Amino acid sequence: MDRKWITPDPHRAIDISERYDLLDYPTYLEDWWMGRVQTWLSQQPKGADLSALNAQIQALSDQFIEDDARPLGDYGRDLRMLLAYGLFYFPRTFVATQWPLCELLGFRAWKPAPDRAMKILDLGAGLGAASLAAAQVFAPLVPAIEICAVDHSPHSLEWYGDITRDLSAAHWPNVSWHTQRGNLRKWRPATNLLAHRPEPVADHCAELRWDLIISSFALTEAFVGEDVGVLWQWLVDWSGRLTDNGLLLLIEPASRVACTRLMHIRDQIATQCQALGGKALFIWGPCLHHLACPLLAAGQHWCHEVRSWQIPDSLALANRRLFHDLSALKFGFLAIGNQPPPALTPAMHSFA
Ligand SMILES: C[S@@+](CC[C@H](N)C(=O)[O-])C[C@H]1O[C@@H](n2cnc3c(N)ncnc32)[C@H](O)[C@@H]1O
Repeated sequence: MDRKWITPDPHRAIDISERYDLLDYPTYLEDWWMGRVQTWLSQQPKGADLSALNAQIQALSDQFIEDDARPLGDYGRDLRMLLAYGLFYFPRTFVATQWPLCELLGFRAWKPAPDRAMKILDLGAGLGAASLAAAQVFAPLVPAIEICAVDHSPHSLEWYGDITRDLSAAHWPNVSWHTQRGNLRKWRPATNLLAHRPEPVADHCAELRWDLIISSFALTEAFVGEDVGVLWQWLVDWSGRLTDNGLLLLIEPASRVACTRLMHIRDQIATQCQALGGKALFIWGPCLHHLACPLLAAGQHWCHEVRSWQIPDSLALANRRLFHDLSALKFGFLAIGNQPPPALTPAMHSFA
């Protein structure tokens, strides 16, 4: 479904129902990826079809689903891996990312500042599925957006640049894009990162604040085998780079290990929040309270989303001999901020 363009109006309340309309995968993204795949197929021996990418799709799938999968390294170096990701995973991440963003806007009443450019940082951006989804959700709501995408794979970032160059003017005209190569565990923004920055100050990093920091399906790779404490410290550091009203959104595969790690972090925030009388980080989602997580305490299941969606034709075609169950989008997420979310209405309490 193609999006409707809504003129940004700072005084207009955000109606979440119109955002949920956008949750399908847009045909212009599907066409862009199919164009890349067809160009590649035209250079292959006669008769090659999408099944030529089956091995790469399977390797990526093992990486995201199996908790003990060996890291694939910089798979952006392999053209077939990039195509497999674009065809098989990009649509799912794109649509999955929009769910928590829409929940934050609608259900948790989060409002990015309506009168200035919104700044979004995508850590481990890869081919850009998460930040493009953010552009899709927010472009109609704010006057402008500046997105910075960080990844250690130059090849992925090159393609990120291609997608945004080809599609941005038509679909996200008020978004500007910047890609930056770096290790998300150590990365610090340069002073001149986004064009209009003021000149250097003593701590040139301290001036940069983000309205939204996303890391989507990247922490599992970046912190593979690490203790939850290491991820916690990283997250506390980045929360200091949020604007007052800013949010940090972590999206991870729905696997037990990845989601349990998010749940431990969530519990740590809950404990601190209670101990410090509310002067700490705050949980904005997925749950609505700051108490210990009952699922984590029981230790049997792990918290994750299972959302139905419209499977794009190209994805169904790529899957025809692979038989993956694509009927639902599955992922775990955690959204946190430095400010508490607005109080719940009595009706919402029944979900808490
Ligand atoms: C599974 S992909 C996810 C890409 C994108 N965020 C998405 O949701 O589609 C993981 C990405 O994280 C990047 N990555 C992994 N470890 C990283 C690190 N330490 N620093 C920067 N990027 C990293 C990889 O290069 C890859 O592009």
